[in-house]
Amino acid sequence: MHAPLERDFDRFKRELPRDFAAHVRETYRIDLTARYLGELVPHPIGKGSGQLSLNPGQLEDDAAAGLAFAVLKTVIAEDESGAQAMAAWAIHETRMKVERRPTGAGREGWTVTWKGRGWDRSFGDYLALVRAGRDLTRAGRLVVVPSVKYHLPRLGEPFREAEYRHTTARLAEAWVEGPLLVEKDFSPTLAGDALADDRAQILRWLEEVPRQIRAASPIPVRIAVKLMNARFDDAFQVEMMNVSAGADALVCFNRLFDAARGVAYGGWDLSDRNLRVLETQLTPHANAGIPALTGTGNISSGRMILEYARRGCESVQLHTFFQLPLSEYAATHGTRSQRALHALVFHPQDGLIAGMLELEARRELERQDGELRFLDVRAHAHRAG
Ligand SMILES: Cc1cc2nc3c(=O)[nH]c(=O)nc-3n(C[C@H](O)[C@H](O)[C@H](O)COP(=O)(O)O)c2cc1C
Repeated sequence: MHAPLERDFDRFKRELPRDFAAHVRETYRIDLTARYLGELVPHPIGKGSGQLSLNPGQLEDDAAAGLAFAVLKTVIAEDESGAQAMAAWAIHETRMKVERRPTGAGREGWTVTWKGRGWDRSFGDYLALVRAGRDLTRAGRLVVVPSVKYHLPRLGEPFREAEYRHTTARLAEAWVEGPLLVEKDFSPTLAGDALADDRAQILRWLEEVPRQIRAASPIPVRIAVKLMNARFDDAFQVEMMNVSAGADALVCFNRLFDAARGVAYGGWDLSDRNLRVLETQLTPHANAGIPALTGTGNISSGRMILEYARRGCESVQLHTFFQLPLSEYAATHGTRSQRALHALVFHPQDGLIAGMLELEARRELERQDGELRFLDVRAHAHRAG
């Protein structure tokens, strides 16, 4: 299989086939089908919420590139009068700096340094973007999912249900037909905020937030909770997963927070931490009751996708890898989403196909009816674990 892979990698530098998952299935007998928030998608690679899903043009490009899904920028919830308890997160900042970030072990990764937070335009503008996403989703071109930062009270304070109700109802109205898929963001700046100093307070949010969103939605809703990397130890991170049983999926885990610089960051420190915590899910029965998992953090190769998959993730969400200087991609043409997909899937050493063939050679993945299946990577790791 190595020769066709080299050949595909080379010829797709100019243009990726629109339905590359079908090509992979035909040529390599590899079924990349994945799952995000209960939806089957043709492969596991999606875009995480952030500055790359702010307008319909970006969504259109991602649909054309063949991304599996895109999560919209996080909007700050509001009530019918426009009041936002989490208004401190709706700040405007455009400047992003894509930087190399070395780790102690001498590995060099990438991070995006940015002082911004949530959606900074009107909720009406956000709903227009949601409608554009709905149309792409209905057309089967790209699964698009809104992301919200809802009110998070201090212990002893009530949740502002009016914000949950108004925001969710407007999103549902824009989506029209259920199920409404929604992500709830627990961000790194929240992890760095005094609000997140108290463990009991965080655990209450995670237990209660999915309930609040379900109660607020006039149509059936599926909820992904994007967990932050809290400023506590790995055991607490696992506890956060355990109390989040009310969610339909967990996105594991948002960026780290550098308290000294006051910024979020990624790179190898992020994937090391995320994979270490997810690893605990591999012990038999450890994950009974934990919702479906989606990985995020320092994913810049197919091999890294498989690291997350082996630890239970059914799909992945990237941000930084869609922002690198063009010289970092082997592809010579196309949008960054296209060039990134080209490397992630077809790289002859580090791509998803090469990685899955290697798992097969090591007898860590078996063909079913002649095919290797991405979704089996997880099941196999569980058996091995
Ligand atoms: C500039 C920037 C803005 C982001 N904004 C959001 C956001 O609004 N909501 C959210 O849930 N995640 C946000 N993220 C997190 C990403 O979606 C992603 O989960 C995280 O960066 C880890 O993936 P990566 O290492 O591929 O970047 C942002 C990330 C970056 C770099």
